[in-house]
Amino acid sequence: MSDHVTLEPLDEQLLTELLHAAVADAAPVEVMPVAGSGTSWNAQREAGFREFHRGRALATPPIESTYCIVADGAVVGAARLCPIAPGAAEAGVWIGRSHRGTGIGTAVFALLIERAADEGYTSLFVSTTAENTAVLRMLAARGIEYVVDGDKVTAWVGCV
Ligand SMILES: CC(C)(COP(=O)(O)OP(=O)(O)OC[C@H]1O[C@@H](n2cnc3c(N)ncnc32)[C@H](O)[C@@H]1OP(=O)(O)O)[C@@H](O)C(=O)NCCC(=O)NCCS
Repeated sequence: MSDHVTLEPLDEQLLTELLHAAVADAAPVEVMPVAGSGTSWNAQREAGFREFHRGRALATPPIESTYCIVADGAVVGAARLCPIAPGAAEAGVWIGRSHRGTGIGTAVFALLIERAADEGYTSLFVSTTAENTAVLRMLAARGIEYVVDGDKVTAWVGCV
């Protein structure tokens, strides 16, 4: 169980740390939209990771909010709030593989709901797949009902 988890707003310095965490501990497809085949990192995909965040959370004005997940002093993943409708944002989270299953995701979920409320959102949209047991357990633990449609699972989470 991780002792201390915080969400730190992404900036250029943290972007480098986040890229290192992604390359070391996650597949490209888990952390950004990926074109083409292949599951490994290369220079083009590392540049694409920076471009992705520079074009969204670090853009002027920002398109979404991205927070680095810091666990016990190390950047281990990212959490995003992407506006999708008035008062509503879609949540996006990834955590490095070596840190999964230790309670960080559960802590991040609670912190992200708080951040969403601070940013003025009243609801969070969660979209995942039916086999993503960790997300389904996190929703169930908070008593949040979700809708299953084939392989797709969606849920709305109140932030106030
Ligand atoms: C989904 C994700 C953020 C969850 O974070 P995490 O730190 O692994 O989650 P936790 O350790 O807090 O576990 C949450 C619950 O899921 C369970 N769980 C975690 N990983 C699991 C797995 N692989 N299989 C089954 N259950 C799992 C935990 O036991 C816990 O349940 P409990 O509270 O009833 O014991 C993380 O696995 C991840 O980054 N996955 C890849 C990207 C992704 O799927 N993002 C979400 C898109 S909506």
